[in-house]
Amino acid sequence: MSENTPDNQNYLWIITGVFIALAVSFIFNLWGSPRKVAEINAVDKKFISNDTVRDPLKKPTIQQAGFTYNCNNCHQHITPSKTQQRRRAAHETIKLEHGINKSCYNCHSQSNREMLFDINGKDVPFSKSELLCQKCHGPKYRDWEIGVHGRPSGYWDKSKGKETVKATCVACHNPHSPKFKAIEPAPAPVSIKESFYW
Ligand code: HEC
Ligand code: HEC
Ligand code: HEC
Ligand code: HEC
Repeated sequence: MSENTPDNQNYLWIITGVFIALAVSFIFNLWGSPRKVAEINAVDKKFISNDTVRDPLKKPTIQQAGFTYNCNNCHQHITPSKTQQRRRAAHETIKLEHGINKSCYNCHSQSNREMLFDINGKDVPFSKSELLCQKCHGPKYRDWEIGVHGRPSGYWDKSKGKETVKATCVACHNPHSPKFKAIEPAPAPVSIKESFYW
């Protein structure tokens, strides 16, 4: 039996007609423009940065009135104070909030202000300040050393390769106020539904 019976041809015309009508409606945009996609704001860079919360000092220096001074620029002329109370003029921003650890000289060398010192009283440069923390925080130091506390990069399993960068204690803890501060939470992800408007 032939398929091109008159009935079938009628259907073809109807379908063609529907498609032409649709094409015309699209060309003249009869149903309005397509829905717009709302712009999703990029997440603030601070939430995706993998920097540590602090920059440890590269050298034992302070900034005063736009100038950079080494500690001993001043301290070579200053007799160490016994009370450590008169320091306000020079270091008034420093507020010690380190539990019962309340003396500057628990950490800073009295005879050379550009040095810290370890459990044996041996000078430790600022770049190795973790050896200072070690004297009172032995277990945490051990955790840090093997990569359980803090943030090492590279290989954790030393037999597979080297550890590359290791954030030091003061990259995360302010030595004068070491409690880790709460971090501002990043905004929730934008859901698909909220991201469209009609
Ligand atoms: C612009 C000068 C200046 C610089 C630079 C400076 N200090 Fe001081 N610092 C002072 C003065 C002034 C005092 C108060 C001394 C006093 O009261 O006898 C002081 C006090 C201190 C104290 C308290 C103990 C004491 O001797 O009174 C410490 C600890 C200390 N400084 C550490 C440092 C360290 C560490 C640096 C470098 C990172 C530094 N200072 C750089 C001027 C300075
Ligand atoms: C728990 C040990 C500790 C104690 C206690 C401490 N410091 Fe420090 N201080 C450090 C370390 C470690 C650094 C280096 C920080 C870094 O690299 O960011 C430092 C940095 C500094 C600096 C230079 C950076 C800055 O913040 O201006 C000054 C000045 C200073 N200390 C003064 C003092 C004074 C004055 C006291 C006593 C009131 C004191 N420190 C008590 C460990 C300590
Ligand atoms: C002289 C001893 C001593 C040294 C040196 C020392 N600490 Fe401490 N640290 C303490 C004591 C004491 C406490 C307080 C414990 C308490 O009050 O519960 C403490 C508390 C802390 C805490 C917990 C704070 C909190 O409230 O949760 C951190 C973090 C810390 N120290 C980090 C450091 C770092 C980093 C260094 C080296 C820059 C350091 N400490 C050096 C004695 C020390
Ligand atoms: C990469 C960041 C980072 C580094 C590096 C780091 N810490 Fe911490 N540390 C933290 C954070 C975050 C906490 C707080 C955990 C919490 O609040 O539960 C903490 C907590 C602590 C505490 C308090 C622990 C307690 O049980 O309350 C001590 C003490 C401490 N750190 C010492 C150190 C010492 C010492 C070093 C270096 C040898 C170090 N940290 C290196 C991030 C760091």
